[in-house]
Amino acid sequence: MDISVLPSPKKVYIETWGCQMNVADSEQMLGLLQAQNYSQTATPEDADLVLLNTCHIREKATHKVLSRLGRLREISLEHNPRMKIAVAGCVAQAEGKKLMEKASNIDILLGPGKISELPGLLATHALDGKRAMSLGFESTARKHDDHELPSTRTDIEMPIVPNPTVTMKEEVTRFINIAQGCDNFCTFCVVPFTRGREISRPLESIVSEVKALVAGGAKEITLCGQNVNSYGDDLVRDGKHVAPPEGPFFELLDRAAQLPGIERLRFTTSNPHDFTRPLAELFRKHASLGRYIHLPVQAGNDEVLERMKRKVTVAEYMERVKWLRDIDPEMAISTDLIVGFPGETEEQFQGTLDLVEAVQYSFIYAFKYSPRKGTAAARFRDQVPEDVMSERLHRLQALSNSLTTQQNLAEIGRRRQVLCHYESRKEAGVFYGRTQQFRLVMIRSERNIVGKMVEVDIVEANKTALVGVLV
Ligand code: SAH
Ligand code: SF4
Ligand code: F3S
Repeated sequence: MDISVLPSPKKVYIETWGCQMNVADSEQMLGLLQAQNYSQTATPEDADLVLLNTCHIREKATHKVLSRLGRLREISLEHNPRMKIAVAGCVAQAEGKKLMEKASNIDILLGPGKISELPGLLATHALDGKRAMSLGFESTARKHDDHELPSTRTDIEMPIVPNPTVTMKEEVTRFINIAQGCDNFCTFCVVPFTRGREISRPLESIVSEVKALVAGGAKEITLCGQNVNSYGDDLVRDGKHVAPPEGPFFELLDRAAQLPGIERLRFTTSNPHDFTRPLAELFRKHASLGRYIHLPVQAGNDEVLERMKRKVTVAEYMERVKWLRDIDPEMAISTDLIVGFPGETEEQFQGTLDLVEAVQYSFIYAFKYSPRKGTAAARFRDQVPEDVMSERLHRLQALSNSLTTQQNLAEIGRRRQVLCHYESRKEAGVFYGRTQQFRLVMIRSERNIVGKMVEVDIVEANKTALVGVLV
């Protein structure tokens, strides 16, 4: 590359909130910025550009962004007057111009469907000094309601889902978005509004990105989407892809799992509704898929699930758990749960506790229901009082913590394959990795084992982690 044509070196500081789709988007934006001669910095004090990649999933999301912007204003005044601020992600998409009005220090606003436009927006802003914005999910040719503010509108059609960007960061674990958006409209959820409808990337482009990341040093790849199991259904529907009878996600997972050099292939999030038996069977076929799956259920009662529009019953969910545990009784399963969904009775909540007990989750992410503007459930009557939600959350977490601790303690004395992810920043020679069941393990080693698959004997355990000794 001819260095003389590169822009002057700059630094970017990135904060990423929310789900792994945002992690993948941040990696993509970093790649685009690196091509513009940016490097990453760990503090906003010395950054030319601060990039906040935001999440809108629960209440106070906008408030959180505004308070972070307030702090950045102080940092800019005290230490760093040249700081430019870009707000990306789901709050940017949901709040749009309103957010620009509330925070005058935002220079660039871009939604999750427009991340490939970041360099263009920065260039426009550098030329005219005006605030720039790009939102929406359609091609740039179509006007969006919020597009009254100046932005880099051009007549060039941009791809809806950005092409892969390989940053060659040589990190052990990397995330790839395989589809944008979601068509499910669960009644509590803002994602279909902040990320739009489900649009899948072409299968070949994902496979080549996986190959390129592995060639760049990655050992573990996570395929991300809000509902990975329905990946590609849109491509098939539109005649853009011909899939085997097991479906396009099966095809993608089966192909990617056997690529040379891939030690572990994970995928998230799996919606139980679209999780099929052939997909489960891929765990039997490919060791690279590990022995762990995140399978969000949300609640353990059929009436609640119906009001949530989750489209599966507790029995159907348990059937999927059985497929997985028939393949390997040690299959670790985690889940997401919402407590205090509108109308949830004490008895219905008890169903959630019973389900957690029955599945023996390795861990759970539990949330108090948070009404989101524009979603169906926000208009449901009989919202559950805050103190009831808090009390239920507490009980659920206590149960789950005890299950996690029991399972971790049962690991003592076992021999496990661990993919080592990183070395502790605080203590040299202390490494962290994960077992096939995705349990965190601390390992002491004199040689650098980052990126290596090592065998360890588990000698200690607590709620959060195991201690392993190299065999
Ligand atoms: N696509 C994933 C979920 C993505 S959002 C799926 O369908 O499983 C991640 C989690 O946030 C959800 O699983 C849910 O447990 C939680 N969540 C989403 N909206 C919420 C809301 N309004 N209140 C509380 N928790 C919510
Ligand atoms: Fe939200 Fe439901 Fe889509 Fe998950 S499947 S992103 S919970 S609408
Ligand atoms: Fe949050 Fe958007 Fe992900 S709302 S959970 S960052 S899709």
